[in-house]
Amino acid sequence: MTETVLITGAGRGLGLELTKLFLGNGRRVLATYRGIAIPDQLRELGRGADAALRALRLEITDGASVTALRNELSGDVIDVLINNAGTTGGDHQDLGDMDYAAWLGAFEVNTVAPFRLAVALLDNLRRSDRPRIVTLSSQMGSLHRKGTGSHAYRTSKAAVNKVMQVLALELAGDGIIVCPVHPGWVRTDMGGPMGEISVNESAAGLVALIESLTPEHSGRFWTWEGMEHPW
Ligand SMILES: NC(=O)c1ccc[n+]([C@@H]2O[C@H](COP(=O)([O-])OP(=O)(O)OC[C@H]3O[C@@H](n4cnc5c(N)ncnc54)[C@H](OP(=O)(O)O)[C@@H]3O)[C@@H](O)[C@H]2O)c1
Repeated sequence: MTETVLITGAGRGLGLELTKLFLGNGRRVLATYRGIAIPDQLRELGRGADAALRALRLEITDGASVTALRNELSGDVIDVLINNAGTTGGDHQDLGDMDYAAWLGAFEVNTVAPFRLAVALLDNLRRSDRPRIVTLSSQMGSLHRKGTGSHAYRTSKAAVNKVMQVLALELAGDGIIVCPVHPGWVRTDMGGPMGEISVNESAAGLVALIESLTPEHSGRFWTWEGMEHPW
């Protein structure tokens, strides 16, 4: 049975590349985007993918939008939920220059939405033989690493790590594997041109990791290279 992967923020960056690679592996992909129209590159992918790619509109911070998605997918199996959509939290998040509204916005997107989506799609995940929830976090949220600035981004990713650790315990009885992952410093719009790895390198590593996840991986923080990352 072909596995189904739902990927948020699939219109560009890592979400788009993950969509491409999972399709290449013969998976069905439910690719979400926000905005009025399907992003061009996602639409292009769909052309060669027959019915394997379904683009769905989703604003992850909007409860009504998440409910509409849940209703649309009611009864369907989802094997993997990838919480990929994320935000940096804007350009004003340092000691002398903090945009507090943007900080809260970063929590909505990076921390609260992955939980909301996991809860909304639990019934779909429970229908899978090997359900997984994978959330794109960041080493910038690791309490183990020291770094300055980017308060909104760092704290929202540290918090989502904790959300995923708790969910892993809560969903272990359902056999659902839950992992936050660090994708590397990637040359996307977010990572910028100085990033250490290409979007393809990162996504290929993430796909290999996601395809190989076992219950022993659950509740632990992983890198795109399949190495365990300290919290
Ligand atoms: N790039 C890196 O170096 C790096 C490093 C560590 C972690 N990460 C994490 O990896 C993930 C993907 O990063 P990326 O580099 O691919 O980022 P990106 O190029 O900035 O793309 C972000 C994606 O998230 C979507 N998105 C943002 N807010 C959303 C919302 N409220 N509702 C729905 N979709 C929303 C965007 O949609 P629109 O196109 O509509 O804006 C876009 O598809 C993020 O969680 C990021 O924090 C990235």
